[in-house]
Amino acid sequence: MTRPNQPPKTDRKVTTLRLQEMKVAKEKISALTAYDFLTARLLDQAGIDVILVGDSASMVFAGNDTTVPMKMDEMLYHVRVVTRAVKRALVVADMPFMSYRKSPDEALGNAARLMQDGMAEAVKMEGGRSLAPIVERVVDAGIPVMGHVGLQPQSIHTYGTYKTRGLDELEAEKIIDSARAFEAAGAFAVVIEKVPQDLARRITEMLKIPTIGIGAGLNCDGQILVTPDMLGMNTQFHPRFVRKYAKLSEDMVKAFTHYHLDVKGRKFPTEAESY
Ligand code: KIV
Repeated sequence: MTRPNQPPKTDRKVTTLRLQEMKVAKEKISALTAYDFLTARLLDQAGIDVILVGDSASMVFAGNDTTVPMKMDEMLYHVRVVTRAVKRALVVADMPFMSYRKSPDEALGNAARLMQDGMAEAVKMEGGRSLAPIVERVVDAGIPVMGHVGLQPQSIHTYGTYKTRGLDELEAEKIIDSARAFEAAGAFAVVIEKVPQDLARRITEMLKIPTIGIGAGLNCDGQILVTPDMLGMNTQFHPRFVRKYAKLSEDMVKAFTHYHLDVKGRKFPTEAESY
């Protein structure tokens, strides 16, 4: 008998088609980010459906204030180490700021690098209707595209704030239009970030492709969080939408302090830990 609090154990590889089936079957999609081999392997072992190599790495891995400084070569490095670890989950690579905006050819070239050199299985792009020709070109070449609407962190310098998007009807309509444009251009899923839950619900009901929410309420087809945030590694970041499933910052500082004191006090290593 399976216990209700355990995820269904399946070795079936997650594909874009499988995500579509999950939407139809109303089975929620679980997604988290990864930037390194060991975390990616643990996420895969836990049965997470989608692992996003997010450009949030620029902030939570590299310590930048925004995702803007992330370069293609840096993203490629993270994608390679993550895909080396993952067997079951669908691995999606974020396309860094300006790596897909200048021309369809450049976008296609960079998406191809993430797939061929990084072994990603899909790419993610932030944008709206003006991005449609680029999305179409990449999808047409056989590269699955995940869209990203609502709060688009790569546009932080335009917004000037990380506040909730789509609070007024004008912006809400624009976000709906962006999601529709991604679907029409052939995207297989759309991330909806930091919008009122009712707006995310409307988009989820409108689209045939799955929506993955972050700070977008409980009515999306799936949920994603930034892994170091949900592990409680960042002591300076407490938005309402991040549920902390662990207190790793406390556990890690405790472990490092313990080790430090053991070394100072000649308690580590012992004879048993020596050759
Ligand atoms: O870069 C990232 O981690 C993301 C998620 C917040 C969806 O885009």
